[in-house]
Amino acid sequence: MLKKLLIFLSLLTVPAVAQQRFSGTLSSPDGTLSLQLEQDDRGALLYGLTIDSHPVVLPSQLGFVLRGKRTEPQYRFERQNKANLYDLTDLTDHFEVIGQQRGADDSWWEPVWGEESRIRCRYNEWTVHLRHRPTGYLLDVIFRLFDDGLGFRYAFPAQKDLTFFALADECTQFRMAGDHTAWWIPVDFDSQEYEYHQTPLSGIPAVFADRVHGHVDRPLQDVVGVQTALLMKDAAGYYITLHEAALKDYACMHLKVDGTTLTAFLTPDAEGWKGHLQAPSVTPWRTVQVTRSATDLLQSRLVLNLNDPCAYEDVSWIHPVKYVGVWWEMISGRGDWHYTNDFSTVTVGQTDYTRATRNPRHSAHTENVKKYIDFAARHGFDAVLVEGWNQGWEDWDGNSKDFVYDFVTPYPDFDIDAVNAYAHEKGVSLVMHHETASSVRNYERHMEAAYDLMNRYGYETVKSGYCGDIIPRGDYHYSQFMVNHYLYAVTEAARHHIMVNAHEAVRPTGLCRTYPNLIGNESAKGTEYQAFGGIAPGHVTILPFTRLNGGPMDYTPGIFKMDCASGSHVNSTLAGQLALYVTMYSPLQMAADLPEHYEARPDAFQWIKDVALDWEESRYLFAEPGDYVIVARKAKGSGQWFLGGVTDGERRSFSIPLDFLGKGRFEATVYADAPDAHYRYNAEAYRIEKKIVRASDSLPVTLAEGGGVAISFKKL
Ligand code: NOJ
Ligand code: CA
Repeated sequence: MLKKLLIFLSLLTVPAVAQQRFSGTLSSPDGTLSLQLEQDDRGALLYGLTIDSHPVVLPSQLGFVLRGKRTEPQYRFERQNKANLYDLTDLTDHFEVIGQQRGADDSWWEPVWGEESRIRCRYNEWTVHLRHRPTGYLLDVIFRLFDDGLGFRYAFPAQKDLTFFALADECTQFRMAGDHTAWWIPVDFDSQEYEYHQTPLSGIPAVFADRVHGHVDRPLQDVVGVQTALLMKDAAGYYITLHEAALKDYACMHLKVDGTTLTAFLTPDAEGWKGHLQAPSVTPWRTVQVTRSATDLLQSRLVLNLNDPCAYEDVSWIHPVKYVGVWWEMISGRGDWHYTNDFSTVTVGQTDYTRATRNPRHSAHTENVKKYIDFAARHGFDAVLVEGWNQGWEDWDGNSKDFVYDFVTPYPDFDIDAVNAYAHEKGVSLVMHHETASSVRNYERHMEAAYDLMNRYGYETVKSGYCGDIIPRGDYHYSQFMVNHYLYAVTEAARHHIMVNAHEAVRPTGLCRTYPNLIGNESAKGTEYQAFGGIAPGHVTILPFTRLNGGPMDYTPGIFKMDCASGSHVNSTLAGQLALYVTMYSPLQMAADLPEHYEARPDAFQWIKDVALDWEESRYLFAEPGDYVIVARKAKGSGQWFLGGVTDGERRSFSIPLDFLGKGRFEATVYADAPDAHYRYNAEAYRIEKKIVRASDSLPVTLAEGGGVAISFKKL
C-alpha cells in the first residue's frame, strides 16, 4: 500500500471570537465543489454545498435530539411509552464555535479486490468544534470535501457531562436546491428488496412499509420517506447521491421527505430510541456525491475513501469467488430446502403420532450436490453453494422461532464428509449456507461452532441470510444492534479466515474496504425476484448508482432459461444476463442457472467462464439511470478487457469507442442480442461474433428491449 501523504495545513486550534456568528468556506482540491458553513441567529450551524457555483445543498441544519434525564420514577405499567418518561435535549442550535482545524489528504491506496487496483483519495478537511451553550456539551463536525462530493460526520469528544447517552433523533438535513428527479425506494427498516420509483422529490408519497415482513411498523405510519442511497438529477443535469459511509455501531439512516427537504431518520430500536452511544464516539459519514455526468458518479469512490483502511494484516486468504449452486432449482420452483414433508397423524392404539415423510423434492442431497461439483470442476468454477443442507428448514419461515437451526447438523441425505472430500478432490470448495431466519440470538449462540465446522471441512465462504422478523423481537434489520451483529459476524469470520456474503443485511456503506472478507451482500432486489414474478428491466440500470455505491452485490445473474417452473418469466435477455457480470461489479459472482441450461449453450456459457472478477481499471462509458449502463473493465493480471452494457425496456444502439484498449490488436468476442430478441417475447435469442479491433475503432452495438451486450477483448 502506498504511503499515505497527509498534509495538515494547520493543526492549530483557532479560538473563535465570542458571540460572533461563525462562517466560512472550503473548496475541494480542484475547486469544483465548495462547502459553506454559517451560523444563523439561533446559533445553529448550517452547511451548504455548491458545484461549479451551482447550488446542491442549501444551508441545512446539523445536530441531534438527545434523550435527557428521566423525569420521575414510574411504575412498571407506565413504562410502555418510554419516550414520555424522559426529557429531551435539543442539540441543534445555541452552538458556540470554540475552534476549528483544516487539513488535506492526497494519497493512493490499493484495495484487496475492487473495480480498480489503486484508488486516489484526495480531499480538503475542515473540523469545527462546537460547544452547546445551554448544556456545555461538546460536539465536533468533520467535513471532507472531495472533487466528487462531501462527507461529514459528527464526533462526540470525551467530556465530563456526556458519556453514556441515547439519541432520540439525528436532525441532519439535506435541503435540496430544487424539486429534482429522484430514484427511490420507500423507507422500511427491514428490507430494501424493492424496485425503484422515479418521481420528483415532491411526488414521493407517504408509505406504510409493513409489507415485506409483516412488522407492525408503527414509527413508519404516514411517514414520507426513502432509503439511501437516494439518487437524484437536477434541472441543470447534475447527478446527486445521498448515502452514508462507514456505518458502524450506529443505526442505519433513512430520509424523511418534506418537499425538497430531506431529514435523517434513523432506524429505531425496539424501544424507539435511535441509538446508544458512549463518548468519545463518531457517527458514520453522511455523504453527498455530486457530479456533472452519470458516468462520473459511477466512477466516484467517495464512499470507500471515507472508510478506514484494511483492518487485517494478512489478507492472503481473501479472494474473488466464481460459484454455482444448489439454489436456482429451489428458487425457481423445482426443488425444496426442507427434507421432510406432509406431516400426517398416525394413530397407534390410543396415541396420535405425527409422521413426517421424506420430501422427494429435497435438493441438497449428496448425489445432486456431486452433480454440481462435477459441473463446477468441469468448467473451472471455484465453489458450489449448497442451500438446504442442514436441519431446521421445516418450520423456519414465519414462525418467529428462536432455536431454529444449529448450523452444524446436516440432513440425513447430505453426507457432509463425503461431499466435501469429493469437492476437494476435484479442486472445488463448497460455499456454506447459514440462513438464520433472523434469529440473531440463535446465530450468535452457534456461530463459533458453525465457523469451526467450516474450517474443519475447508469451506472458505459463507452465505448468510436474515429472512423474517428479528429475534430479539421488536428489533429491526437496520437498527444499531443489527448493524453491530452483521459486523460481528464478519470479524468473527475473519478470525476463521472465512469470507462472508450476507443476504437481507443492512445495505453496504463501504465497510468492505476495512473488512475485505465481506465479499458480497444482497440488500436489494436481486435475481431471485425474476422467479417470484419478474423484475422490470430498468432495475439493473439503477442499482449501480444506488445499491452498489456502498459495495458489491450478490445479484446472482446468468439465467439462460427465462421461463421458470414457478410460472414466472425472467424479464431479461440472455445477452443481458451475460452483461450483468460486468455492469454489476462484484468479486463474488454466481452462475445461477442449472448446469443443464448452461451445457445446452456452451458458446454463451464460455463468457461466464472467461469473465474476470477483479479489475485493474474500470471505465464507465455510457450511463443514464433507469435507461442504460455500459462499462469496460481491464482484468487484474491478464490485461484482458471485458465490456458489459444493459438497457431498460427500450431497444438502444451505441457506437462504442475502443480507445480504452491502448496499444495493439485485440480479438473481440461480442455476445449480443439477436436482431429479433426481446426480454418478453424472444428472451433467449443471442448471437456471437468475433472481430479483430484496435483502439482507434468504434464498435456499433444494439441492445434489445430489456437486453444487453457482453464483449471480451483478448490481446493478440
Ligand atoms: C433469501 C435469499 O436472498 C435467498 O438467496 C435464499 O435462498 C433464501 N433467502 C433462503 O435462505
Ligand atoms: Ca433476499
